Amino acid sequence: MKALSTDHLLGIKYLKKEDINLIFETADHFKEVINRPIKKVPSLRDITIANLFFENSTRTKLSFELAEKRLSADIINFSAGQSSVKKGETLIDTVNNILSMKVDIVVMRHPNVGAGVFLSKHVNARIINAGDGAHEHPTQALLDSYSIREKLGSVKGKKIVIIGDILHSRVALSNIFALQLQGAKVKICGPTTLIPKFITSLGVEVETNLKKALEWCDVANVLRVQHERMDIKYFPSIREYTQLFGIDKALLDSLGKKIVIMHPGPINRGVEITSDVADSDQSIILNQVENGVAIRMAVIYLLAQQIKK
Ligand code: CP
Repeated sequence: MKALSTDHLLGIKYLKKEDINLIFETADHFKEVINRPIKKVPSLRDITIANLFFENSTRTKLSFELAEKRLSADIINFSAGQSSVKKGETLIDTVNNILSMKVDIVVMRHPNVGAGVFLSKHVNARIINAGDGAHEHPTQALLDSYSIREKLGSVKGKKIVIIGDILHSRVALSNIFALQLQGAKVKICGPTTLIPKFITSLGVEVETNLKKALEWCDVANVLRVQHERMDIKYFPSIREYTQLFGIDKALLDSLGKKIVIMHPGPINRGVEITSDVADSDQSIILNQVENGVAIRMAVIYLLAQQIKK
């Protein structure tokens, strides 16, 4: 049986193209399972998973929990807000206490960059990074590429533009790594203040004119402005941001071709994207959410096979 080349899922930068292919093949199987009347398989009845969320989440937390339940794993959920972290407990102490309850896999979202890598070196469990600060969000990038593959047949050779707050985005970095690994061409577009200086060293082009970026691409992945990570003002006003970088139906219809619209959520409707674009037939935003369950089932299943070896 084929296996992943890694013991953990800490970031796309640690994956090989073959790993992504294997995750997608496995997700194809699980997507068929979750569309059956009985959406559950007994594969991981002997596996226990802890979902540790030190930062807010709707989609990722619910999607992981559902994926684990569909695989019949036992799960425990932890949110930092209601825990002893508030009393000063360290990350390693918190996680080791949880692991002493015989946990096999830890899914963790954390505000600090590298939290998953740090944990993987100090605790005896498989770690899945569910988002670490503004660094990586690997399962989001996998479900995004999987959704492009589903819509357009393949990722290879496709032109993808990632639009918006690149500076504070873990989705952008993981998407750049994943898309390039699969042979897509990637541009980014946004205010220069929200584009990190290092970005061109990753082999992506920068386009600050939104219309030109949209005319070039097959797929636009639109990101949220992350006010909660901003300590200073990066642009004069939301109104100006929307005028220059917001996508509305008139702009979409003016392109003369039908591009695919993606957004990882949560959406600021009327800021980076209008409702008639988010809800249009060109949008695959809810397909991304649906595919997230199959992708997370695949990642968990493949890492669990390595525990069982
Ligand atoms: N896409 C995403 O990570 O959403 P949540 O923050 O709601 O998990």
